[in-house]
Amino acid sequence: MSVTILGIETSCDETAAAVSVDGRTILSDVIFSQAAEHGKFGGVVPEIASRRHCENILETVRLALDEARVTLDDLDGIAVTYAPGLIGALLVGTSFAKGLAMAKNIPLVPVHHIAGHIAANYIAHKELKPPYICLVASGGHSHIIEVKSYTDFSVIGRTRDDAAGEAFDKCARVLGFPYPGGVHVDRAAREGDPERYKLPVPKVTGNEFDLSFSGLKTAVVNIAHNAAQKGEEIDKAGLAASFQKIVSETLVSRTIAAADAYGYKTIALAGGVAANSGVRGLFEKECSERRIRFFMPPLSLCGDNGSMIACQGYYDFINGRRADESLNAAATVDIGGISLSACVNQFLQN
Ligand code: KG4
Ligand code: ZN
Repeated sequence: MSVTILGIETSCDETAAAVSVDGRTILSDVIFSQAAEHGKFGGVVPEIASRRHCENILETVRLALDEARVTLDDLDGIAVTYAPGLIGALLVGTSFAKGLAMAKNIPLVPVHHIAGHIAANYIAHKELKPPYICLVASGGHSHIIEVKSYTDFSVIGRTRDDAAGEAFDKCARVLGFPYPGGVHVDRAAREGDPERYKLPVPKVTGNEFDLSFSGLKTAVVNIAHNAAQKGEEIDKAGLAASFQKIVSETLVSRTIAAADAYGYKTIALAGGVAANSGVRGLFEKECSERRIRFFMPPLSLCGDNGSMIACQGYYDFINGRRADESLNAAATVDIGGISLSACVNQFLQN
């Protein structure tokens, strides 16, 4: 008997839904992107995101079911991103999924957004199986994760400040590119000299697998501002290439060091920044030189999408993960299972 799952994703600025069969086979994948609208404001406006999700969710889910040629009665489960993300945006997806699940008596499966990004690789690479190390680098997260099983994760390192995608977006902004800017920095970098500007290599004390991008981001901002004050032109392509080189080297070296330290010979890459040509190329090169098996999603599955939630929803479903009508969205649940509020409570009790 096959397992058919509807996946719903509304954690940021994409309203997305997809239908999976046995996790890795995707029957439909529908995305309504709001990026162009948020672009006018230079970043995601949470209130606008929530409103657009409300307007688009019904049509998105209807299209996903129609394109997959399934009805609600064919579904074994409804998977939904419940955390982390923009709370108002998450609430639209979770409330919609809850309503649908309760009305039709279909099991409801809460999916962690980062677990979803990781699962994007299962769709593209049928041979990929846990355990392995995964770098998830997106607009909101930069985590090095030990994927112990399809549903058991341990965070080895994380950014202390900005996510890699956030740094790309900020760099894009000072270079005059529209939001979301990562892809524009990527394109500009192809024309530039990566040695053109000397930028600081991010350093952290303590956990050697943690990451930090705010110093690098500030250095880029300062170069642009200093040039503007002196009335000088900056070499946009050169600055994009120099920035991308340092980010790529940082992400690749930290992830490979984590794989070495934890004894893994398999690495996967996921999240919006996984679309970056510099990051992809350097991972491929360094992993092949070290005989590490390396996996990355196709560009279409790097950013937020419904397929990754439908795929991860399958693994959570067969692992028995369920939610009832009390399911709530949460902005900051750790993928290892500890929420920020739990940490705060623990701190207050001690
Ligand atoms: O995974 P995602 O769609 O959303 C979050 O969960 O955050 O990631 C979006 C991020 C944005 O910061 C965007 O600029 C970045 O991924 N991004 C890129 C590229 N394509 C998207 N960053 C660098 N190079 C790219 N080609
Ligand atoms: Zn994401």
